[in-house]
Amino acid sequence: MQTGLPLFPEQASTVAWRVDALYFFLVGISLFFSLLVAGLIVYFAVRYRRRSPGEVGAPIHGSLKLEVIWMVIPFMISMVIFIWGASVYFAITRMPAESLDVYVVGKQWMWKFQHQDGQREINELHVPVDRNVKLIMATEDVIHSFFVPAFRIKADVIPGRYSSIWFKATRPGRYHLFCAEYCGTNHSGMIGWIIVMEPADYQAWLSGGAAEGSLASLGQRLFQSLACDNCHRGDTQGRGPLLEGLYGKQVELRGGELATANAGYIRESILNPKAKIVAGFEPLMPTFQGLVTEEQLMQLIEYIRSIGPPESGTEPAIPAGPPRYDDPKKRQKSDSTRGTMK
Ligand code: CUA
Repeated sequence: MQTGLPLFPEQASTVAWRVDALYFFLVGISLFFSLLVAGLIVYFAVRYRRRSPGEVGAPIHGSLKLEVIWMVIPFMISMVIFIWGASVYFAITRMPAESLDVYVVGKQWMWKFQHQDGQREINELHVPVDRNVKLIMATEDVIHSFFVPAFRIKADVIPGRYSSIWFKATRPGRYHLFCAEYCGTNHSGMIGWIIVMEPADYQAWLSGGAAEGSLASLGQRLFQSLACDNCHRGDTQGRGPLLEGLYGKQVELRGGELATANAGYIRESILNPKAKIVAGFEPLMPTFQGLVTEEQLMQLIEYIRSIGPPESGTEPAIPAGPPRYDDPKKRQKSDSTRGTMK
């Protein structure tokens, strides 16, 4: 909806109208009660004005009925706002089951994007229309905030952890991307564009480049050059946990706690290996803090995500194909879409 009012960004994602509806409801409620109170002040000032110098007001001893009304009505209104707000919040923050994943690194003062197929971009992100896009975001330095007004999404990107946000663009076009957290001198210049394309145009764009190979294959190369495979391999006895088929699984730690092997877990295990020791293993692994960049960490994660359980007797077949997922439905869908990309 591009209204004549330049104050409002257009609605270009599936959640945009829901955010706006709630926003207008809040404005409407505030406006209604402001006018009601202001109007009554004026009305009562006239209606109950002092009419003679010696006049004394009638004594008032309260009204239970009135008090109950002005407690119950605001309570119900605030509950409506709470439930409505929570449902919009969940829609924005809960990740969809199937999505196109893009890795994002914020840095003073630019946004860097890595696609699973290997394309990299700076301050520009190309995505297809009508498709769930999930952003897995990290920062190399300070806090940044990823903000796309037309999509009504915003998420802080915080040092030392991954943040995620998702959107489904509803219309092709170019939409402003801002950094919404003051991050230094050129904070205001940390801007870019989300370019939403028709599926066919997006395929054409994808086939345009990724000279270095997919993210998973970059990760695999890194995995070997950092000698991770010296310890994390099938035939070693107890030096490092096997990584095949690990992604998304529950891992038992020393002391019996469980952890989910998601991107955040893998990132922490690379940078701070002693934080979570897998049951049955010694804390032998050195830290890779300072040796790998945030972008390389994402490549390693994408590699680990791509390797399924080891096939009996053979080396796990790696990045010839698409990443493998645990959920067969997800895999099927992902494979079919990726098939058309090539
Ligand atoms: Cu990055 Cu402001």
